[in-house]
Amino acid sequence: MKQNLNHKAFEIVRAGYDRIAGRYTTEREKFDNWAEVKAFQHTLPEKARVLDVGCGTGVPIARHLTKNGCEVVGIDMSKEMVAVATRNVPEATFMQMNMIELDFPPESFDGLISCYAIIHVPRECHAAIFRAFYSALKPEGVMLVSVACWAWEEVATYMGEKMFWSHHDPAVTESLITEAGFVIDFGRAIEGGGEKHHWVLARKG
Ligand SMILES: C[S@@+](CC[C@H](N)C(=O)[O-])C[C@H]1O[C@@H](n2cnc3c(N)ncnc32)[C@H](O)[C@@H]1O
Repeated sequence: MKQNLNHKAFEIVRAGYDRIAGRYTTEREKFDNWAEVKAFQHTLPEKARVLDVGCGTGVPIARHLTKNGCEVVGIDMSKEMVAVATRNVPEATFMQMNMIELDFPPESFDGLISCYAIIHVPRECHAAIFRAFYSALKPEGVMLVSVACWAWEEVATYMGEKMFWSHHDPAVTESLITEAGFVIDFGRAIEGGGEKHHWVLARKG
């Protein structure tokens, strides 16, 4: 039953972003998370290998990190988002992949970033996602994620398309991050673009 619910949720998100892909970059300009991205970036070694989870169109995150000397691998479950990202940031590598089936050898990345994406994954999967993120990072690796500011699960409309959201409140999310093995540097709520998200910067303990 739960598998079935999950399957439908992923399909709603994937199909929704496939249809949104061509117009998402303009929408994304409303959101400013540069303070958090720069805090993440400053923890990275030179020529860091960074995984961008739910990378969307590759703009602005993969483009910014690539321009600043990082080797970026972006994954997204939407084939159309991956196609747009590949055109936008040809220097990075993008692939279609569901973050609940992260397929990289352990300790592959110096950094992992995921902006506005985990909120679309059924929350019963969040603990496993953070464990997989932990495994994908090298020792001392750093993770920046945006999560939600309140517990919620709903199917509604986003940019004219059917969309699914699912989240815990920040305290529960931060406990899942800690239980996965991370040490949290900061967790803070940021408002912008008519939305509020909770940002967590954490290191592999
Ligand atoms: C709101 S967009 C954010 C895109 C990008 N991170 C940014 O900052 O602009 C959410 C993205 O997460 C992707 N996504 C949602 N659920 C996912 C999953 N389970 N696995 C991989 N990507 C997912 C969507 O396809 C979409 O491209």
